Amino acid sequence: MSYPSKHLLAIEGLEPPHIADLLDLAESYALLNRSGKTQRDLLKGRTLINLFFEDSTRTRTSFELAGKRLGADVINMSVSTSSVNKGETLLDTASTLNAMQCDLLVIRHAQSGAPALLSQKVDAAVINAGDGTHEHPTQALLDALTIRRHKGSLQGLVVAICGDIAHSRVARSNIHLLTTMGSRVRVVGPPTLIPADAARLGVEVFHDMKAGLKDADVVMMLRLQRERMSGGLVPSAREFFRFYGLDAEKLAVAKPDSIVMHPGPMNRGVEIDSAIADHPTRSVIGEQVEMGVACRMAVLDVLARRLPRNR
Ligand code: NCD
Repeated sequence: MSYPSKHLLAIEGLEPPHIADLLDLAESYALLNRSGKTQRDLLKGRTLINLFFEDSTRTRTSFELAGKRLGADVINMSVSTSSVNKGETLLDTASTLNAMQCDLLVIRHAQSGAPALLSQKVDAAVINAGDGTHEHPTQALLDALTIRRHKGSLQGLVVAICGDIAHSRVARSNIHLLTTMGSRVRVVGPPTLIPADAARLGVEVFHDMKAGLKDADVVMMLRLQRERMSGGLVPSAREFFRFYGLDAEKLAVAKPDSIVMHPGPMNRGVEIDSAIADHPTRSVIGEQVEMGVACRMAVLDVLARRLPRNR
């Protein structure tokens, strides 16, 4: 296993073999999970702390499940964002976690860069579970694994990432991962929701949904992240759906065997029509959640191997 770091803070900086090895290991965990043989002793005696300063359903539970399936003691700490006095609280938290001799720390924070800051202050291996608008590396890994299972390889695929790109750490991590692995990435959305540096990230920018979806292999929809918007960047949910919501008519221009993805939580009727979200053959949204557990097991596995034996 070629993984280069003590932590997983971002996809940016990882090279194709690092990503491919993580996905191969995650695939083996996916098969193990399906077979029901999930109890292992790999993380026995290790402590994993889930430190979530922002809301989460899927990510927190799947890290919890992944840790438990590998035998770790898992502790969930939820901190309401309103009570957080960023820098100071984080550093106070770091010394508390060190005193508890935590081995693996999973952190989600509204501030971009918070996991990186914490990684300099704690002895634990730190995993970024989403920091502001920066990155959400395990989401990109689970998305890549889901795509690979359907398309065989990421090389040469046309992937259209649609909607609120500007506020999306999911988009950022996916762009880094997919371009590194040789996919052709398009970002599709209104100019107000496309980041200024999009072209520098090696993607093609589309403001017209059908032009962006034309012949795509993968259509990835994103939630409108109103909590991160200042001012009215979108006229109304109804109007957004008309131009950028994924429905059968817009999806018809993508490849006939294209798959539809969404990281969740979904705003049905805003960025995606319910009939598409629940489509029995095109939607892989449920599989993304399943692969989330497998990818997080792979990440915990790889990072735990680098931990000192006794702390
Ligand atoms: C995403 C997140 O938190 O960045 N959700 C997730 O982890 N599945 C996307 C979102 O909140 O829209």
